[in-house]
Amino acid sequence: MKKMHPMIKEVLITEEDLQARINTIAAQVSEDYAEKDVLLVAVLKGAVYFMADISRKMTCPLSMDFMAVSSYGNESRSSGVVRIVKDLDVEMAGRHVLIIEDIIDTGLTLKYLVRNFEARGAASVEVCALLLKEGAQEQEVRWKYVAFEIPNEFVVGYGLDFAESYRDLPYIGVLKPEAYQS
Ligand code: IMP
Ligand code: MG
Repeated sequence: MKKMHPMIKEVLITEEDLQARINTIAAQVSEDYAEKDVLLVAVLKGAVYFMADISRKMTCPLSMDFMAVSSYGNESRSSGVVRIVKDLDVEMAGRHVLIIEDIIDTGLTLKYLVRNFEARGAASVEVCALLLKEGAQEQEVRWKYVAFEIPNEFVVGYGLDFAESYRDLPYIGVLKPEAYQS
């Protein structure tokens, strides 16, 4: 078991709550895609734990692929630019795609990805996000599954980072102010 990280001010979502809710969403997805052979596309690196946990609980036929985009530098705010850093390996045309995302903040990344996948001829494109930041969406994004809505605060853990740290925490937490100073 990991100890509480000294730079975490508050735990917003515990490991138990994350896993319980992910089981529920996995069951919903499995029902909705029972006949569809879904292609799960996770956005690296923030969605790795979510992808690993939710896919393991799904009972529908599925395959997975990973993509890396960058809309943030080592900062806690959006640069407004989405760039593909690593593209998919598999052909997307005709596939039912479910994007697995860590968090919808401004919505910029997802808006770009949904459009991009539709342009590649996906049969359907839907979004499954772990977190949705309340009131933060500047872009119109359409999502099918959201595990948790959180206040408009910067969070880390369970895949989410600040300057590449804290991804390995098993819970979602808020950093102490001093964490931003180093
Ligand atoms: P968006 O394009 O603003 O919706 O957010 C894109 C990406 O920003 C997410 O996939 C995350 O990697 C990152 N991000 C947004 N909010 C947070 C946060 O609170 N903590 C850590 N990363 C975040
Ligand atoms: Mg990030």
